[in-house]
Parts: sequence; structure tokens; C-alpha cells
Amino acid sequence: MTTSWALVTGASAGLGKQFALQLAAKGQAVLLVARREAQLKELQSHIKAAHQVECEYLALDLSEPDANQTLFDHSQQNNWQIDTLINNAGYGVPGDFDAVDWQTHQDMLQVMLTSVIELCHLYYPLMKQRQQGQIINVSSLAGLTPATAGHTLYGAVKAFLVKFSQSLHLEASDHGVHVTALCPGFTYTEFHDVNGTRKMVSTMSKKLWMSAEDVVSQGLQAVNDNQAVYINGWRNRLIARLCKLLPESLVRYLMKGSIAKFRKR
Ligand SMILES: NC(=O)c1ccc[n+]([C@@H]2O[C@H](COP(=O)([O-])OP(=O)(O)OC[C@H]3O[C@@H](n4cnc5c(N)ncnc54)[C@H](OP(=O)(O)O)[C@@H]3O)[C@@H](O)[C@H]2O)c1
Repeated sequence: MTTSWALVTGASAGLGKQFALQLAAKGQAVLLVARREAQLKELQSHIKAAHQVECEYLALDLSEPDANQTLFDHSQQNNWQIDTLINNAGYGVPGDFDAVDWQTHQDMLQVMLTSVIELCHLYYPLMKQRQQGQIINVSSLAGLTPATAGHTLYGAVKAFLVKFSQSLHLEASDHGVHVTALCPGFTYTEFHDVNGTRKMVSTMSKKLWMSAEDVVSQGLQAVNDNQAVYINGWRNRLIARLCKLLPESLVRYLMKGSIAKFRKR
């Protein structure tokens, strides 16, 4: 019998690590991808011991344009049948648009946008052929709310992932493949340490924060249920809903005042 594999990008920390753990706990073999090999190796050992499933890793920098093809070729050569694709790797780039050098913008677009689409383009046709598969593109509540000053491309990239996932969801549903854009709000991971905003965001109400465990278990349920877009937590769903219902100028005014405290410029 062919083993069913899940490929998780950004598996060395935060949501990606949690996806790997929860998928392994469900008996799925997991392929872990991120840059930090030590963290991937440690997670691999843990998963193998705790869940008795196959687990492999590939230390890759997804900002390298050929990384996606390398990853695909590697999984194909090993006959790892990727039935679940979790496009999760990501980070925030603080600063105003012109204060950030082009290479940094380009790397971010490669990791969080091009890589996501290319991995779907590589693995989706195989899922479609087999008439089974699940894809989660990790977007954000930021993709559903008005844009902010600072971290300029983040909201735009996440909005793109929502639209892209909605389209692919419609195309894939006829072929037994589920596609979900997962939109978490503030979640406890390394994300805000990496982008240097931990101190700023720690002033925010605890009620707005969710655990990586909850975000991931809800995300896995959402893709099982074939939901095109899933927003984690009722508070985040309310925020997204209000952004649609209230006049746009009012929402932008409110966002400008409230979220500015949490964006590094
Ligand atoms: N935490 C939140 O509040 C929040 C809210 C909404 C959406 N999200 C989204 O959730 C996703 C996961 O973020 P997280 O919160 O779990 O953050 P995290 O704890 O910082 O994890 C980010 C992961 O992405 C990987 N990564 C970063 N750059 C990479 C690259 N160039 N190549 C390969 N892997 C790379 C990191 O691994 P290495 O450093 O080892 O490469 C790490 O495993 C992101 O897409 C983020 O935008 C997070």
C-alpha cells in the first residue's frame, strides 16, 4: 500500500511544526521543510518516536527560485505521494515600503507568494489525477482587513492567497481535492520574535490571541470539510465581518488608529 505523505513548509517552528505534529498524530507520513536543519532533525526524531510514522526533512531556503522544483523532484524520486500540502512558511517584513531593500521584498514574495503557487502547480495535478488531496494555504486575517502602513506587502500577499485559494478551491472541488485558505489572527508562535514586534504586540488584549494548537486543529478540520476560506476564532470572524459591513472609509480610519500600534515602521 502506498504511504500517504503530508508536505509542510515552515515546519521548524510555530504553526508549521504544529501541523506536522497533528498530521503525524493522525498517522500521516510527513515531509518537513524549512531552513534550520537542527530544528527539523529534532522534530523528525520526536515524530518518529511519538507517532511511529515515516518522517523526512529537507533543509531548504524557499526564497531560492529553484527550491520548489528541487523539493518536488526529491519527493518524486523517493516516491513520496504528497496527498496533503501545507503552504505555511512565512514571516513579516517590518518597515515602510521604500525603507526596505528590493532583495528583501523579492525574497518575501518568493517565499510567501511564488513558492505557494508553484508548489500548488507542481503537486495539484497529481492530486487531481488521483482524485484526492488536501491543500492549505496559510493566509491571515490581514488578508481580509484593510491594509496598514508598514509591513507593506504582507496584507497584499495574504489577500492574494485568499483569492488564489478561492479559485483553486472551485476548480479542485470537482476532482476530489480540497483547498482552503486558512486565516489566523494573532497566534502564539515565533512570528513576532522574528520580525521584532513582540514587545509591541504583547500590549494587545490576551483575548485576541490563539494557540498554534487550536489554529492548526481548526485548519485541518476546515480542509477536511472543504471550506474555501476559514478564519480562526469568533473574534477574528467578527472583525472580518465588520470590515465587510461597515463603510470602507470608517474601517480604514479605525484600522489606521488601532493596528498602527502593532506595526513596526
Ligand atoms: N503568528 C501569527 O500571529 C500569524 C497570524 C496570521 C498568519 N500567520 C502566518 O502563519 C504562517 C506561519 O507563521 P508562524 O506564525 O508559525 O511563524 P514562525 O513561528 O516564525 O514560523 C515561520 C516558519 O517559516 C519558515 N521560513 C521562514 N522563511 C523561510 C524560508 N526562506 N525558507 C523556508 N522556510 C522559511 C521558518 O523556518 P526557518 O527559519 O527554519 O527557515 C519557520 O518554520 C506564516 O505564513 C504567517 O504569515 C501567522
